[in-house]
Amino acid sequence: MDALSLLLKRQSYNQLTEPAPEGICLENILQAGVTVPDHGGLTPWRFIVFRGQALDDLGEIYAEAREAQGADCEKISKARNMPLRAPLVIAIIADVKDSPKIPRLEQLVAAGCSAQAMQMAAFAQGYQGIWRTGDLAYDAHVKKQLKLKEADEIIGFLYLGTAKSEPPVKTRKPAAEFVEYWLE
Ligand SMILES: Cc1cc2nc3c(=O)[nH]c(=O)nc-3n(C[C@H](O)[C@H](O)[C@H](O)COP(=O)(O)O)c2cc1C
Repeated sequence: MDALSLLLKRQSYNQLTEPAPEGICLENILQAGVTVPDHGGLTPWRFIVFRGQALDDLGEIYAEAREAQGADCEKISKARNMPLRAPLVIAIIADVKDSPKIPRLEQLVAAGCSAQAMQMAAFAQGYQGIWRTGDLAYDAHVKKQLKLKEADEIIGFLYLGTAKSEPPVKTRKPAAEFVEYWLE
């Protein structure tokens, strides 16, 4: 797939199964995640790859978070199963650095670029995926278990795998709806 087609055809898909990206494909995805604009070279990101039993472990963290919120059994059980919606999940964490020059916002944006780049790299190699957050991405227990510092944020969980069926092709709004031209 050429680069422009990749940019114009990228879309999310949530019906995911094995095989998950592994080996060089997974390395490419992770490398794409660190090949993003980075003001000041702060590398304000880190990634956690969840595969196999680790998906259950993440589910357990989610379930504990719901329990701490006083959720009912159904909600706790739903949370426990959430990471099992794909064979591979990558957590993208903004590892925000204390910098006198680079604002926190810029570091969050850079980590967001990592998530986007990783989804694109997966798509380019024939995989599908979806970037998810949900309220648990902002939950104190989840943040603690994933070892976030005070200033850090969970930018998202990238669910990756192979599409269970052909994803529907999405039509996009024309860019003209969002653009104004300031031309002399
Ligand atoms: C920061 C962020 C968080 C998101 N969280 C969720 C989520 O929790 N659940 C969900 O279904 N979609 C979520 N989305 C949206 C999907 O990733 C996806 O973009 C959306 O379904 C539209 O599909 P498209 O990417 O094909 O346009 C999120 C997107 C972003 C950028």
